[in-house]
Amino acid sequence: NWTTGNVIEEQVAAIREQVGDRRAICGLSGGVDSAVAAALVQKAIGSQLTCVYVDHGLMRKGETEQVEKDFVAATGVQLKVVDAEERFLKALAGVSDPEEKRKIIGREFIRVFEQAQAEIIADQGPAVEFLVQGTLYPDVVESGGGTGTANIKSHHNVGGLPEDLEFQLIEPLRKLFKDEVRMVGQELGLPEEIVQRQPFPGPGLGIRIVGEVTKERLDLLREADAIAREELTAAGLDRDIWQCPVVLLADVRSVGVQGDGRTYGHPIVLRPVSSEDAMTADWSRLPYDVLARISTRITNEVKDVNRVVLDVTSKPPGTIEWE
Ligand code: XMP
Repeated sequence: NWTTGNVIEEQVAAIREQVGDRRAICGLSGGVDSAVAAALVQKAIGSQLTCVYVDHGLMRKGETEQVEKDFVAATGVQLKVVDAEERFLKALAGVSDPEEKRKIIGREFIRVFEQAQAEIIADQGPAVEFLVQGTLYPDVVESGGGTGTANIKSHHNVGGLPEDLEFQLIEPLRKLFKDEVRMVGQELGLPEEIVQRQPFPGPGLGIRIVGEVTKERLDLLREADAIAREELTAAGLDRDIWQCPVVLLADVRSVGVQGDGRTYGHPIVLRPVSSEDAMTADWSRLPYDVLARISTRITNEVKDVNRVVLDVTSKPPGTIEWE
């Protein structure tokens, strides 16, 4: 008989048993999954947990500040913020292949954690032997980890782990779907803004730039994404859509006209989807006036973008993210 209360009780007991008096670290991504996983582990082992937030430079506008403020305020968790933007951009330089990007980002993530671990040990003494991950059931299935399903994408928190991983994993959400994770988060007392946050992939904007990831392109995409999110929120549509990836086609250019001049800029793709669990999805029928406002604002306000297009593909055949 499934209740959020049972899940929490079971997981808290299992985590206490697994960890004993040792220490764990948890990567916070700004998303629901890692926040709920962290809150659950904190409930189990309290101050034996330290959360690490890796600012990989692939976050959306304002996201780092949100983690630092909202999550810490809600849980009182110990948080260490690592600025790793330069390191990630260097590792990603020259790379356009989606799977290669995912593997690089996954690998660098773990390396940064190992570094954070060393610092936490130096700071606090006892060994940090556990890494908390907000892996969900669909991640497990889609990475071929359990049911023998073919590998679709190597989600960075499952398939992208390096061989020489130094941590044991704690994955308290491994059997849950997204809606169940939200219920658990609510039961744990996390605020609405965190529990109802739309999903955002671990590799961040790195897999929303079709082409090489550079600082300049990230800044551009951050602006476009912030506009889309702002308008969707203003229109009261956040609860109607599952998420809306905003994608920069950095390797594509098209001709446009702005002011008196010809432009040769990049397209931005809007990918609003509705879904129950991200295993399948349909494209959201957003009101035309909202789409028009987003398009007008992005082409007016974001340099080098002269076209906004709408993705009208369901999943399958398209995945939600473009990479
Ligand atoms: P796809 O693109 O596979 O996405 O249809 C399904 C859901 O998963 C999110 N996603 C990820 N989440 N690490 C994550 O934590 C990842 O590597 C990753 N890739 C995709 C995506 O945003 C969607 O909600």
